[in-house]
Amino acid sequence: MRKWFAVIGDPIEQSMSPKMHNSWFIENEIDATYIPIHVSKADLKEAVMSLKRLGCSGWNVTVPHKTAIIPFLDHIDPSAKIMNAVNTVEVLSDGTLRGSNTDGIGFVRSLEEAFPGQLDNKKVLIIGAGGAARGIAFALQESNYGPIAFTNRTIEKALELSSELLGSTAMSIESAEASLQEYGLIIQTTSVGMNFSQQGVPLNPENLAEGSIVADIIYNPLETELLTKSLERNALTMNGTGMFVHQGAFAFEKWHGIQPNTEKMIEKITITLGGSYVNR
Ligand code: ATR
Repeated sequence: MRKWFAVIGDPIEQSMSPKMHNSWFIENEIDATYIPIHVSKADLKEAVMSLKRLGCSGWNVTVPHKTAIIPFLDHIDPSAKIMNAVNTVEVLSDGTLRGSNTDGIGFVRSLEEAFPGQLDNKKVLIIGAGGAARGIAFALQESNYGPIAFTNRTIEKALELSSELLGSTAMSIESAEASLQEYGLIIQTTSVGMNFSQQGVPLNPENLAEGSIVADIIYNPLETELLTKSLERNALTMNGTGMFVHQGAFAFEKWHGIQPNTEKMIEKITITLGGSYVNR
């Protein structure tokens, strides 16, 4: 039987994962297909059982099921435990289901691809203290980047996260703004600037040092106001397209044992999103 893969979520129509994985299947001459499946919250357990019964070889999980799916899986790997969220499920040869999370490592790989050899010895500031910030912070530390500081609208959450990540610190948005010039790598993980729905910037980048790297995990719009303002201050910037592509690429590797082409895919997705943004 032809192998098939899926992404489950609600809503799901907007997902670019099917286009990405199907395109990689063609490029790598893999005889398989990848489909989007709309699954509402109430149907999640049933959906997991059905995917397994119908011979799905693996699937991605998106909003709102990333945490809710955990009880229905057999093994949860450390990346998903840390984030308390699963975005990739592998169906093992004995039929058991393994959940992992490729978001954090996907971000780190996208950063390394965009700025090769330019990341060492940089102080890192992460804006935000939610699930995305957590995954990225642990993945960065595992790859020996840092030291890491968190800043967040709700300082308590930043303090809590920093108490879990050895060697990290937390500070208010005001303190981060005042000391911004110290940070060589600034990572924006909040939803501020997303889809034009939450206008503005999560932090005033006035004190940004020239040549520092500012990465925003948002890719719609391709250039958030934070990135525009950072470019005006001669920072190097990266949007979230690379993270999206690399989280998918790492899932692809887990399922097929092949590293797909990420640079070409970032270009394709950028065009799909109607833009010409390049990391620079
Ligand atoms: P995700 O999994 O995408 O990280 P999350 O866990 O809900 O989502 O975290 C959202 C993050 O965006 C939090 O850091 C949140 O700040 P609070 O902890 O203060 O809520 C941040 N965030 C969301 N909307 C924001 C806004 N309008 N201004 C500033 N920060 C915002």
